[in-house]
Amino acid sequence: MYGNIEGVVGRRDMYWNYQPSVPWVPTREEVIKALLSLLSIPSGYTVYDIGCGDGRVAIALAEEFPGIHVKCVEARKDLVDKARKAIEEKGLASRVEVIEGDFFKISLSDADLIYMYLLTSVNQKLRPKLEEELRQGTIIVSLDFPIPGWNPVAVVELPRSWQRAFYIYAKGLSDGSASLESREKILENVLHVIRIKKHELRL
Ligand SMILES: C[S@@+](CC[C@H](N)C(=O)[O-])C[C@H]1O[C@@H](n2cnc3c(N)ncnc32)[C@H](O)[C@@H]1O
Repeated sequence: MYGNIEGVVGRRDMYWNYQPSVPWVPTREEVIKALLSLLSIPSGYTVYDIGCGDGRVAIALAEEFPGIHVKCVEARKDLVDKARKAIEEKGLASRVEVIEGDFFKISLSDADLIYMYLLTSVNQKLRPKLEEELRQGTIIVSLDFPIPGWNPVAVVELPRSWQRAFYIYAKGLSDGSASLESREKILENVLHVIRIKKHELRL
């Protein structure tokens, strides 16, 4: 009876749980490995995976970088439960927080780094929120989908995967909001956190 409704995305109503407008497609294991070798996340960083699915990226980041705190935001209850279970089993509950909800409604103002694997259309809708809430220098790594209107500081291609590239952004540089004096400082931090050479930067 409800079969035709179940395919509808991005709606809320009185009978069904929130259906996010991005389907769950996990980041592949080899891409997670590439992500871990691309990053060097300092202790004390607060890292988000917005739309974190079953938590696999959040878990991998927390395991690789023991000094960070991870926030895994997910709208689908079944995936939230899966993520919480896996995090508990790995003994990471004190450092990986699972937030059940809509990332459009959750403040991202304490983020030092955000990982996301969404869609270009969703990134476009997120852009004003990122511009309003993020601190200067916050780094965003977006798998496969750019943020329209922002300039990536780097694009790292993944030649051996159908998940093709990481688009890397830095608030302030990518949206042009940083002052001349702060640009150098943000760039320096990007090169500290992302293992790329200065000549690979797009700015
Ligand atoms: C492509 S999957 C990526 C999952 C995970 N980040 C990974 O890389 O393995 C996108 C995820 O975002 C979730 N999602 C979509 N829109 C959301 C929203 N507005 N708030 C919270 N989660 C959302 C979906 O349920 C899905 O699990």
